[in-house]
Amino acid sequence: MKNTVMTFQRQKDEQKKITMLTAYDYSTAKVMDNAGINGILVGDSLGMVMLGCEDTLSVTMEDIIHHTKAVARGAKNALVVADMPFMSYQTSVYDAVYNAGRLMKEGRCQAVKLEGGAAVCPQIEAIVAASIPVMAHIGLTPQSVNAFGGFKVQGKSEEAAKRILAEAKQVEAAGAFAVVLECVPAKLAELVTKSVSIPTIGIGAGAGCDGQILVYQDMLGMFGDFKPKFVKQFAHVGAEMEKGIKAYIAETQNGTFPAQEHTFKIDEEVINKLY
Ligand code: KIV
Repeated sequence: MKNTVMTFQRQKDEQKKITMLTAYDYSTAKVMDNAGINGILVGDSLGMVMLGCEDTLSVTMEDIIHHTKAVARGAKNALVVADMPFMSYQTSVYDAVYNAGRLMKEGRCQAVKLEGGAAVCPQIEAIVAASIPVMAHIGLTPQSVNAFGGFKVQGKSEEAAKRILAEAKQVEAAGAFAVVLECVPAKLAELVTKSVSIPTIGIGAGAGCDGQILVYQDMLGMFGDFKPKFVKQFAHVGAEMEKGIKAYIAETQNGTFPAQEHTFKIDEEVINKLY
C-alpha cells in the first residue's frame, strides 16, 4: 500500500518507527520499495555521493527533477520526497512555491524537503497552502555548511539546544508534516520528538526519533570518501562491487568471458557467404 503523509503521522501516533533512505535512481528505488521502506528522499546529497562534489551547494533544480523522475518510477509504495536545492527557496516565497511545484509536477514526488527554521516558515506555509506537503530539516543543515564553518554537531550549548527546540515547534506550526533532525545530541532529539506532534526523522540524532534516514551509499558501504560517526554500514557493497569488477576484468583478459551461453548464433551458411 502507498505510504502517504498520513502513514507517517499514524506511525508516530502508534509508536511504529518510520524508515527512510535516500535514492537517486530507478533500480535502487525499486529494491528499497520491495524491501518495504516507508519513504525515499531524493536528497541533494546526490551532489556528493553521485556527482563527487565536496558539498551539496552546486545541485540544481534540473538535477533533482531528473533523479526524482527516476525514483518515482521505481517507488510504487514508498513516499517520495524531493529535496529543494540550495537557492531554490531561500530567495523568496514565490521561488519556493514555484520550485516546489516543479518538483511535484515534473519530478512526480509526493512531498518536498527544505532546510531551516524560522527563516523559511513563510516558505513552508506557502508551499503547504499550495497543497504540497513539506518535510522540514533542522540541526545540521548542509546547505549552511559555510555559515556553520563545517559539518558539525548542532545544539550542544543551552542556547543552541533551545533554538533547535523552538525551530521544531515553528516548522510544525508552519505546516510541515515531518521534520528531519540532523546531527543533534540524542537527548535533545528525544525532547524535540516529545515536544512536537509531527514525526521526527533522525540522522545522527539517536534512537529517540520517530524514524531514521540514512544516505544509502553510506549504509551499504559504497561511499568511501569519509564515514560520519552516525553511519552504520549494514553491508559492504563497495567491496563486493570491486570484487565483481576485478573478476570481469580478469575473465575478459583471459578470454573466459563471454562464454558460449552469453553469445548469439548465426547459421553457418549465412556466415560462410561473408568470407
Ligand atoms: O540530502 C540528503 O540526503 C539529506 C538527508 C541526509 C537527510 O538531506
